[in-house]
This record gives sequence, structure tokens and C-alpha cells, in this order.
Amino acid sequence: MSAKSSAPSDFQEHLAHLEARGLLVRIDRPVCKDTEIHPLVRWQFVGNFPEEARRAFLFTNVVGAKGEKYDIPVVVGALAASNEIYAAGMGVGVEDLADVWMRALDGPIEPEFVENAPCHERVYTGDDLTRPGGGLAMLPAPISTPGFDAAPYLTATVCVTKDPETGVRNMGTYRAGLKANDRLGVRMASRLSGAGGYVHWLKYQKMGQPMPCAIIVGCAPVVAFTGPQKLAIDQDEMAIAGGLAGKAMRVTRARTVDLEIPADAEIVIEGFIDTELLEPEGPFGESHGHIALEDFNMSMRVTAITMKNKPVFASVLSEVTPSESSILKKSAYEALFFQHLKRNLDIKGIEAVVMHEPLTNLRKVIFLKFAPGAQRTEVWRGLHGASTLQAQCGKIVIAVSRDIDALNTDAIFWSLAYRSDPIEDVQLVPHRSGGHGPKAGASGGDSTMLIDATLKHPTSPLALPAKPFMENARTLWEELGLHPLSVRAPWHGYDLGDWSDDWQAFADAAARGDWEANGANTYARRRGGLKPETPVRKVEGAGASKSGNEH
Ligand SMILES: Cc1cc2nc3c(=O)[nH]c(=O)nc-3n(C[C@H](O)[C@H](O)[C@H](O)COP(=O)(O)O)c2cc1C
Repeated sequence: MSAKSSAPSDFQEHLAHLEARGLLVRIDRPVCKDTEIHPLVRWQFVGNFPEEARRAFLFTNVVGAKGEKYDIPVVVGALAASNEIYAAGMGVGVEDLADVWMRALDGPIEPEFVENAPCHERVYTGDDLTRPGGGLAMLPAPISTPGFDAAPYLTATVCVTKDPETGVRNMGTYRAGLKANDRLGVRMASRLSGAGGYVHWLKYQKMGQPMPCAIIVGCAPVVAFTGPQKLAIDQDEMAIAGGLAGKAMRVTRARTVDLEIPADAEIVIEGFIDTELLEPEGPFGESHGHIALEDFNMSMRVTAITMKNKPVFASVLSEVTPSESSILKKSAYEALFFQHLKRNLDIKGIEAVVMHEPLTNLRKVIFLKFAPGAQRTEVWRGLHGASTLQAQCGKIVIAVSRDIDALNTDAIFWSLAYRSDPIEDVQLVPHRSGGHGPKAGASGGDSTMLIDATLKHPTSPLALPAKPFMENARTLWEELGLHPLSVRAPWHGYDLGDWSDDWQAFADAAARGDWEANGANTYARRRGGLKPETPVRKVEGAGASKSGNEH
């Protein structure tokens, strides 16, 4: 890793950094949390808007649909409206994200316990939670998908629970819908590879006890970033957050539940989740891009709301991807998968894991990038490894070579078209769980498609002008003041392994204007008795074909 981490210790320090860097827009006019906040920020994601122009939005004058006024500002997009904002939350550059995640997974740092915590500057219990306008109604929770959602939701959550047998903490980002001033509907996924909190819930259910839970809304980004990460059930997210920050994070004891929580949180909602009765929850706009319909989910009775003196309410934009939610997950999940393939499975030649984000939401389609010349058997071990690490991830896994930009769908189709032979290179594997998606169809079952679209044979160069010519022409383009370019690979030709020094010499000569010398050379090599289109090397023997296809 090149940069030394200087991750913000709490959410407001992060917001100050964003504002100083021009990455936060402050909106002071009244804006309605129920109908306007999320649709306004959504335009950044659906308005054909460049990622680097996306901002965090801080709303300082929040009102409700009934004219309620809130003294707590709302911020949307501050965790991950863009990768730049996400990286700012770790105190590093975008180029360091994968390394920081790998470091944290390899080297967690245990949290430090403190008695006096900023998250307890204001404490509400008892009647404060049930009086009109009290409890959850104090919080400016926005409606995420107005027109479809049944309630305002907490989306920027970190839900803390504890394994009643081992005492190990879990922290997961789960949505929670407002039901009453002192009640929430919480959804912890019960599918395979679902929520860690659900595993704890099952244990409390067996014991016949409600599950203590503390929902953090707004905290140091490194803590928030562990919420969506899929860690092993016995790994403590606070220690991984410490690993991300490169320093111990602070925890304190919650007031009404026996849980340790991030001491520097903005807002904490404590309570007990019923393990006997479930309550209908939703509809709500899900990250798989469809509305999650009403399901029976968990019901949480709130026993305390605590906060800083002047908290900020964090909200995450989710639903159709790309979204803040998918940016929050992308580099975390990619690092986890890469670590599995590289470290656990020791796949030779694997260079990167890229999860497909637009509309598909990361989990379903995964690309693996391999070094030139990777062995076919290693490519296939990688394909199987990526499709089996998590039940919900890797429905379609496609291996490509290093030169393919996996973020460019056209390049993926190019690779499929010219580098794979479907009968040889595609495998369908039955029996996959339905994973994360709308509940449609009878069985809910699914299967897996694995494709090796790596370059398997030396191939002639990509037919675009070579890099120096394109670079020179770009300077010329800019000097001419032509329409600004948006550059995507491939934008120059390069060697794909089948190219000889002789042909390079011809090309160099032609570019110098010496094409007649090339003509003199070929005139001397004329032959009779051949059918047109006979490859020269079949007749003359192979030229000195260069090895490798670096570019
Ligand atoms: C904004 C956002 C909302 C999410 N909502 C839920 C949710 O409601 N329920 C759920 O089980 N997972 C949800 N997830 C995904 C989980 O956070 C993710 O699966 C994570 O692995 C959970 O941590 P865990 O493995 O400790 O349960 C959400 C993720 C994000 C970023």
C-alpha cells in the first residue's frame, strides 16, 4: 500500500473532510424527507451523470410530509456516492482500496473500550420513546422509494448483535422500517449466506428469549464499511474496522442492552427483537433492483435511543444499481473474493476480481482477470472457486485476460465472441440457490454458468493504431478543440502474441514513409503455384514471432 491510512474517527470528521474537498453539497432550503431527499440524490445515479461528479448531499433544513421540522440534518451519499467518497472514508486514495481491504482482512485490530462515549450525550428512554413526536419520530428517516415504500427506513445501519453462546459480536447493515415511535421492522436475510444477525436470532429463539440489538445510524466510515461486508460469522467487524483504519476503534457499553457498540456513533437505537412473533415488513425498494414485497420479518421493541448532542442522520441510497449501496459493497466484496482465490485456493495467474454493478448488483455476474498464458486448469479452478465461495454470489462467472476491461460490457462481448468456443469453454452447473433477487418463479432454484473467455492462443494484434500514434493524435485532437473525448479500453492496437519482428519492421518503415522499401522486399519474394490467401509463413516458415502479449 502506498498511502498511510488516516481514516476519520467519526462520521462528522468524515463530512468535514468531504466538504473541504468539495465532495459535499450543503442544501439549506427546506427539503421533504418523505418525498424529495432520495429522489433528488437519485438523479446522480440515473441522470447519465459521471461518477466523479457525484457528491454527498447534506440537508440542513429537513421537513416531513406533514410539515414536521427536524433539528437533525440528513446526509445521503456520504458513505459511497462515488469510489472517491468511499476511499475518503478510509483516508486513502481510490487506488489503495483493494490493498486496504486485504490488509484489514489479514490484520484485524481489536477495539479499545471507553466508559464515556459521545454517542451517550443525549439518552432517551421510557416515556420519551412513546410520546407523540418522541422516540423514532424524532429521527428524520427518509422514504427511500416514494411511491412504493410503506414507511421511512433506516438504511445506513450497522446492527449489532451478539452470539449468545460464544459472545462474538456481529455487525450487519440491515434495513429497518419505522413501525411506531418505539418499534421497528428489521429485515435480516434468512437465505443461505444471508445475515449473520439471523444466525444469532435463531439461537435466541431456541433459548426462548428476545434478541438484544443495537442499531447504529452514522459512525466512522470504516465501521459502516464493515456492515455490508460478508465476514466469517466468528470475525468481529469492529476489529476489521480497526484493520481498515490502521488503528483501534472505540467501543462502549450500550445503555439498555448487553452489547458493546461504536462509542463515536451519531445515533444508536437499542432494543429487543421478538424471536417468537414476526411482523409484515415492506414493501421496500431492494438492492437487487426490484421492490421487495411484504414479508414477515423481525419486530424490534425500542428500549433506548441515544445520540450525540448534535448528531447527523446518515441515509444510504440503495435500490437499482449502481447506487451508494453497491459502491459500498463493491470493493469490499471484490477484495474478499480475490483473497479467497489468491490466498486460500492459490489460483495461479489470477490478477483481479471484478463484480458487475449496473442493474445486476454485483452478486450475480463476476469477472475474473487472468495473466496472459494462465493455465486452463487454473482458470477453471478459479471459475469454480468464485462461484462457490458464497451461495448467493457467482451465478455467471466469466474469466477474461488481463487486457480486457471488465467494466466495459462491449469488451466482455468481444472476449466472448473471439476468445471462447462455447462447446469447450462454457459449463453449466445445476443446483444453485436463488440468492438475492425478486421472489418470482415457482422453484426459486437457479444454476451456474462458467465461461473461460481468456485468450488461449497467440492472436494477431488488435487493429487500432499503436499507442504512440493514438497518444499523439489525442494531443492533436485537444489542440484542435474538438468535442471532449471519453476514453475506454481498448483505444490503441497492441500485440496479442502473434506478430513478428519482420512485420513490425514493415510497420515502422511504413510509418516513416518508406513503404516502397517494403514493396521491394515483397517483390523479391514472389512465388507461383499458390492459391490467393495462402499464409506466407505456411510457405516461407514462421517469422520470429515474439512471445507474450503485454501491452
Ligand atoms: C444499504 C444496505 C442495505 C442492506 N440491507 C440489508 C437487509 O435489509 N438485510 C440483509 O440481510 N442484508 C442487507 N444488506 C446486505 C448485508 O449488509 C450484507 O449481506 C452483509 O454481509 C451483512 O453482514 P453479515 O454477514 O454480518 O450479516 C444491506 C447492505 C447495504 C449496503
